[in-house]
Amino acid sequence: ALPKKVKIVEVGPRDGLQNEKSIVPAQLKIRLIDMLSESGLPVIEATSFVSPKWVPQMADHAEVLKGIKKFPGIRYPVLTPNLTGFQAAVASGAEEVAIFGAASELFTKKNINCSIDESLERFEKVLSAARAANIPVRGYVSCVLGCPYEGKISPAKVAEVSKKLYSMGCYEISLGDTVGVGTLVGMKDMLSAVMKEVPVSALAVHCHDTYGQALANISMALQMGVSVVDSSVAGLGGCPYAKGASGNVATEDLLYMLNGLGIETGVSLPKLLEAGKFICQALNRKSNSKVAQATFSS
Ligand code: HMG
Ligand code: MG
Repeated sequence: ALPKKVKIVEVGPRDGLQNEKSIVPAQLKIRLIDMLSESGLPVIEATSFVSPKWVPQMADHAEVLKGIKKFPGIRYPVLTPNLTGFQAAVASGAEEVAIFGAASELFTKKNINCSIDESLERFEKVLSAARAANIPVRGYVSCVLGCPYEGKISPAKVAEVSKKLYSMGCYEISLGDTVGVGTLVGMKDMLSAVMKEVPVSALAVHCHDTYGQALANISMALQMGVSVVDSSVAGLGGCPYAKGASGNVATEDLLYMLNGLGIETGVSLPKLLEAGKFICQALNRKSNSKVAQATFSS
């Protein structure tokens, strides 16, 4: 049965913008996040406290996090790969963070420059500091349906890493199809394995739409009981350490599908479309959202 309510986690300001080649001014990022807040999204990932040498686009993290309007009831998590990032995030007012691991050794090395085991040691430090500061931590697992460097990834490996992050104290595990290569049965098999280790109520799916499979894969996840879905306004995005990864499923398209199914989200489609239009105009590009294309061409 499909869930009655879905929590949409908007990742455009982080996952979307991190892949932009030219630096987007902080004021523009702030305006985008404020417009997204006005649409009623419950969670907006605002930025990441990673090394500016690795991802120069996110170097303005403190300015962005301090500059946005924090709407009551909306959460603004930020990515923190290690204790350094966690401390900087908290000093800038972060009230929620996310750590990001992967089910692939090679991807972990390329993305955060360590092995999976070393990444878990780093995350343990973040989690214990977060526990002391009463800060909730979300956990990402990347490459759950395939890896740009290793190819096939077994559902058992995804389940193992997910279980570790969950038992370390992450309140939610977001399963990332980082390069968008997955199809329906892959999603089903992966989720079946993960659901044996982590309650489905603590799972989210994070689908990049590189091969056009995101909405199909999300429908499979919804039918299996997942009720948290990550997406990116205008389908912005990709991961700078996953060559060829395009944006996440567009939030407008996800919302259109959920609205059609009568699933409650609390998000206004017209306001979301405005935010998407704003950022596409500012970046001088065409929206990757089919719903936006259909709306603005008619
Ligand atoms: P490293 O070079 O191994 O780190 O990078 P280090 O600990 O050896 O430190 C090297 C330098 O970085 C030092 O500075 C540190 O102070 C500094 P220096 O002495 O050279 O001047 N440093 C930091 N500076 C700012 N913030 C920090 C920080 N930590 C150390 N937090 C590190 C390791 C993890 C830092 C690096 O690899 C990194 O920043 N990686 C981030 C990569 C990234 O952001 N990728 C995109 C996000 S993940 C994603 O998109 C996938 C996802 O969407 C899910 C999906 O789609 O699957 C989440
Ligand atoms: Mg991503």
